[in-house]
Amino acid sequence: MVSANQQVIGVVGGGAMGRGIVQLFAEAGHAVRVYDAAEGAAAKAQQFVADMIGRAVDKGRYTREQADALIGRIRPAAALADLADSDVVIEAIVEDIGVKQKVFAAIEDVVSERAIIASNTSSLVVAEIAAHCRQPGRVAGLHFFNPVPLMKVVEIIAAVRTTPATVEVLCSLIAGTGHRAVIAADQPGFLVNHAGRGLYTEGLRVLEEQVASPAEVDRLLREAAGFRMGPFELLDLTGLDVSGKVMESIYDQFQQEPRFRPSSLLRPRIAAGLYGRKTGEGWYVYDAHSKTVVQGTARVPPPLAPDLKLWIDGAADQRESIAELARAAGAKLTESADDADLLVVQPWGWDASSYAVDQGLDANKLVALDPLPGLDRHRTLMLSAVTTPVARDAALALFGTGGAKLTLINDSPGFVLQRILATIVNIAANIAQRGIASVADIEDAVRLGLGYPQGPLSWGDSIGGARVLSILKNMQAVTGDPRYRPSPWLTRRVGLGLSLLTPEAQR
Ligand code: NAI
Repeated sequence: MVSANQQVIGVVGGGAMGRGIVQLFAEAGHAVRVYDAAEGAAAKAQQFVADMIGRAVDKGRYTREQADALIGRIRPAAALADLADSDVVIEAIVEDIGVKQKVFAAIEDVVSERAIIASNTSSLVVAEIAAHCRQPGRVAGLHFFNPVPLMKVVEIIAAVRTTPATVEVLCSLIAGTGHRAVIAADQPGFLVNHAGRGLYTEGLRVLEEQVASPAEVDRLLREAAGFRMGPFELLDLTGLDVSGKVMESIYDQFQQEPRFRPSSLLRPRIAAGLYGRKTGEGWYVYDAHSKTVVQGTARVPPPLAPDLKLWIDGAADQRESIAELARAAGAKLTESADDADLLVVQPWGWDASSYAVDQGLDANKLVALDPLPGLDRHRTLMLSAVTTPVARDAALALFGTGGAKLTLINDSPGFVLQRILATIVNIAANIAQRGIASVADIEDAVRLGLGYPQGPLSWGDSIGGARVLSILKNMQAVTGDPRYRPSPWLTRRVGLGLSLLTPEAQR
């Protein structure tokens, strides 16, 4: 069971990532040599893969013979020199630039002139690793995700001196494993971790501004937008100690770009040991089996007051669906905002109070409803700074009819989902603007690497590019924060009426 284009793959470092990489290439039919500086670690890596493949045999994915052949293709190496016949060497050792530079020079000393050497670094500059090599053209980043066999995307990092031939060889090597290879420039966070900044940093911003609790934000992301986890659940999973450092590092590497600004909420929580699952407490409290929600509860809508007079603002199509709901619930529609008990507005990127002032509406009677498409079953309502309890309860009663879930938030420029989704789309647009990756690679890397339900640019298309642009512009106007300034790439495409999936014209 050896494939026709079998190669020899050397893996340096047999830890959490190294062993997954060994498994991936052995399963793809390659001969794999694994070396680890720690006594017995290479053999342990082989044993780990043997156990995983043993489970696959139990599930009927391999016959015993296939499994034996596969495991036989893995050879633990006693010394780096035993990797001499490798076509490609993949390094997955400690994340330390000095150690990696030394190991790369040592690898270069033992392999052939045509061998390619790649690093699984997630945060170092690949060009700095390559800088101590005699042939930097054959050095690239090859960034796998954990667990390697299950995470079906691999970033190939083309550093400043990496040759196109090196990138090509790595692309076809990865394609042969069944994973999706995406190509990213040697920039902070590469592609996936760069694109992932929006969810965390904007989620934290929403919390800083007291718009909603972590549990409410997470619930909106999961139940209304289809994410597997919200930002706070994700932070608890990865550990705030680790994620906090990554946030600081990417922000600093991008020269304090406001789009990536981390939150002042993190340091005190890190100091207090609220890392997340690993310490038993983060944004949530954990025991061995489950997560306990600390804050945030679902709203139970009150009954609708009889003869409620309702005024609805917004585009005609947005107005009509609310009008239908109102008629079914027995509310009266009025054409005069002065005459109404409840004013329902549907702003893009505005907070309810600023919108009331801008439109000359009575903020006391005003409740804003998130007009994002697809939120009929989970609605977000936003209060102005002075919305009365009467108007609030009337809105809860009206929008809770028919069993729709409700989340009530405080005043916020852009509701929770508008601001997080617009930030994600804007960062993806700027990744394209900077030529860090192609449109197709951005889309697939975000779905496969971050597990988002949709690629960020097609998501922008679903919301409507013009709406995303208004959310960003209005948020920037209301907050004065350059974090929300739209990427020129987005502005241009919206101006030209193009899909955000339209790639750059070729020169
Ligand atoms: P790990 O700590 O589980 O394994 C590292 C292994 O490298 C250990 O077995 C250690 O004995 C060995 N090692 C250390 N120095 C060595 C040297 N000079 N020569 C040979 N072997 C040496 O670390 P992990 O998590 O596998 O990470 C490895 C690399 O992958 C790091 O660069 C990390 O940033 C990157 N990475 C990690 C991810 C993760 O989720 N853990 C995800 C993507 C990348």
